[in-house]
Amino acid sequence: MEDLEVTHSSCFSHGITIKSTKGVRMMDNRSQWGTRLGFLLAAIGSAVGLGNIWRFPAVAYENGGGAFFLPYLFALLTAGIPLLIMEYTIGHKYRSSSPRSFSKVSKGMEWVGWWQVLIAFVISTYYPIIITWSGMYAYFSLRTQWGDDSTSFFLNDFLQLEEAGTFGSFVPMVLIPLIVVWALVFFFLGRGVKKGIEFANRIFIPALFIVFVIIVVRAVTLPGAFEGLDAFFKPDWSRIIDGSVWVAAYGQIFFSLSIAFAIMITYSSYLPKKSDISNNAFITGFANSSFELLAGIGVFAILGFMASQTGATIDDVVEGGVGLAFMVFPEIISQMPASGFFGFLFFASLFLAGITSMLSISETYIAGLQEKFSLSRGMAVLLGGGLSALISILYATQGGLNLLDTVDYFINNYGVALAGLFEVVAIAWFARLLKDLQGHADSVSDIKLGMWWRVCLSVITPVVLGFMLIQNLKNDLTNAYGDYPLDFLFNFGWLLAIGVMFIGTLLTIKKWPKKDHQA
Ligand code: ALA
Repeated sequence: MEDLEVTHSSCFSHGITIKSTKGVRMMDNRSQWGTRLGFLLAAIGSAVGLGNIWRFPAVAYENGGGAFFLPYLFALLTAGIPLLIMEYTIGHKYRSSSPRSFSKVSKGMEWVGWWQVLIAFVISTYYPIIITWSGMYAYFSLRTQWGDDSTSFFLNDFLQLEEAGTFGSFVPMVLIPLIVVWALVFFFLGRGVKKGIEFANRIFIPALFIVFVIIVVRAVTLPGAFEGLDAFFKPDWSRIIDGSVWVAAYGQIFFSLSIAFAIMITYSSYLPKKSDISNNAFITGFANSSFELLAGIGVFAILGFMASQTGATIDDVVEGGVGLAFMVFPEIISQMPASGFFGFLFFASLFLAGITSMLSISETYIAGLQEKFSLSRGMAVLLGGGLSALISILYATQGGLNLLDTVDYFINNYGVALAGLFEVVAIAWFARLLKDLQGHADSVSDIKLGMWWRVCLSVITPVVLGFMLIQNLKNDLTNAYGDYPLDFLFNFGWLLAIGVMFIGTLLTIKKWPKKDHQA
């Protein structure tokens, strides 16, 4: 190995560089982030996504408004950040993709890694569709093309929606821009970790932050904004004893922090050996939650404006997910001064937040494929991304929205949450690895972990996730989600979510190459 000199700076502006006497070199030939700031921007870019802007505000509102912050903060501190530290440590220690890392812990755990990678793969098939819609809506905003009836424009004119269970034909207005989004994703992924993913995040994340601050400043100065914020922050304390509120808080934290679907293990496997782990996890966690809060403030100020314009209450106008972003918002944007510009900024911010998360979601299977089948990066991008792109065109059909809604619901509730439960149980109880991981994290981190970290992971998180699972099952086995036909829910909900677990085990049949493949 080369004679290495490691320069380590704790301040963001310089980060970590690894130099050899012959110039900048890698420690081994595994890809690495260029600087600490580069890694942090990529991790924050992964965490800050569609979940922050369209999911969080509605989840918070539906679950007690201001009173939701208590369970949310509890979930962040007892599960979110501890699990993030654990995933960063696993990635950093084993310097491998998620399945390879788990296989290094114990041969029998490899499937947990593949299962998580496959969950990420499923998410990567529909995530770019929402990015595509956002891009198209940024364009539509310029001339407020949705007219007087934004709901009908979205469902009928844009998506040409058909009944659940039927796919109909392709919608060119969605399919063509989807291809463009994939081309962008392929471009950045193909260029590699530093030149592609880090480069994209260095541009997109600061841009996203600037755009979003402009949106929020404009939003809170609109007439009626205060009523919106009041509705958002006013705590409904009676909800705090409701178990489903806690379930919602944990669900939000998992999706939003990109934990339990292989992402953070993969990203931290590209860290140089001398990298702070715990501090980076706290920075990522708090940056993500701050953005989430900012999004909540922006969204509710805007809803307050709408309520004040139409004489409705906030309850009447609030809606989550797709409905909020693509049906309610366009209607509000039409009523605002300089509507075209504001609409463009809002949808551009969704686009930017989405694309940086999409890169991280796809990187999970690219790393896994490369290592398992000794592929070059280009080949792994082409195979993994290509398959995902091919499947994603199903969502560009007339039945796409129903499919997306169903897959998203089941893969999150029975994929991410269940895989998170298996992950902590496997590491804390079966492998009994927490002390060892704590030692590893402490050896490189400024903030030393205590007993609290092990208690959170071995007791609190599994108990809450177990409870969450039972609650969700009870609900979904007694009510058909979204009132969709049962065979549709079975095929694209249950079968898919449970199926990926089994496909994960199939991928463990092939042995890993003798020497770790790191192209
Ligand atoms: N963490 C990403 C999001 O919030 C996946 O959308």
